[in-house]
Amino acid sequence: MVTHHELFTDLNSWLRQRRALRAAGVSIGFVPTMGALHAGHLSLLKRSSEENDVTVLSIYINPTQFDNKDDLKKYPATIEHDLEIAKEAGVSFVLLPTFEQIYPDGYRYKITETDLSEKLCGAHRPGHFDGVLTVVLKLLNLAQANRAYFGEKDFQQLRLVAGMAEAFFIDTEIVAVPTVREIDGLAMSSRNINLPVDARGLAPLFYQALKTAPTTAEAEEILTLEGFSIDYIEDIDNRRYGAVKIGGVRLIDNVER
Ligand code: PAF
Repeated sequence: MVTHHELFTDLNSWLRQRRALRAAGVSIGFVPTMGALHAGHLSLLKRSSEENDVTVLSIYINPTQFDNKDDLKKYPATIEHDLEIAKEAGVSFVLLPTFEQIYPDGYRYKITETDLSEKLCGAHRPGHFDGVLTVVLKLLNLAQANRAYFGEKDFQQLRLVAGMAEAFFIDTEIVAVPTVREIDGLAMSSRNINLPVDARGLAPLFYQALKTAPTTAEAEEILTLEGFSIDYIEDIDNRRYGAVKIGGVRLIDNVER
């Protein structure tokens, strides 16, 4: 296991490194994140370490995917802790780019998907998936990885990223990794640390209701009675998707049906 990693704040230096790795013929796994790493990210990093010679982690809080300025301000930044986790997980390279480096175009160019991105979270967070897909395309081009790892907790994001990779002939395999949950069922999320104690106590009911309520209407009813406010709960194909707010924090989750 690699016990140290190399940090890149300058993308030109990273691209030089990337050319050297290509010349050496090593396989690369890529895990894009916005930091505030938790056990869910750790499982992406571990999977990547198992399946590739080296793992590249990016930590970049992408402002273009936040439709709500307050959410961006409250988004946890825990870089020291993140670098510790990266070490534990055997990450070789960490990319820490700035806005100017990621968006030399000032976000004049963007990727828009016109169907799935307008549903579920897309219907509640205008422009969110444009921001996600645009930054992911930039990051995939920078990493030029053999495989890139995305968590199933953000299932809509995963489907949109996989669709984009196919549509634009991206030469990186998009790998889906199962959601990691707390013992009480709450899906791991960077936003969970913003939950006040009483809301943290109620939060596992969200997963329970998604899993056990016979209909979406019943799930909504149970959660509303418990004090959740519902963004949406919807069944699409063989999956139930939900987004709710509790204690001022927005939670999303999904279950197979
Ligand atoms: O899932 C996330 O953390 C982000 O949406 C991603 C994929 C890193 C893009 O900013």
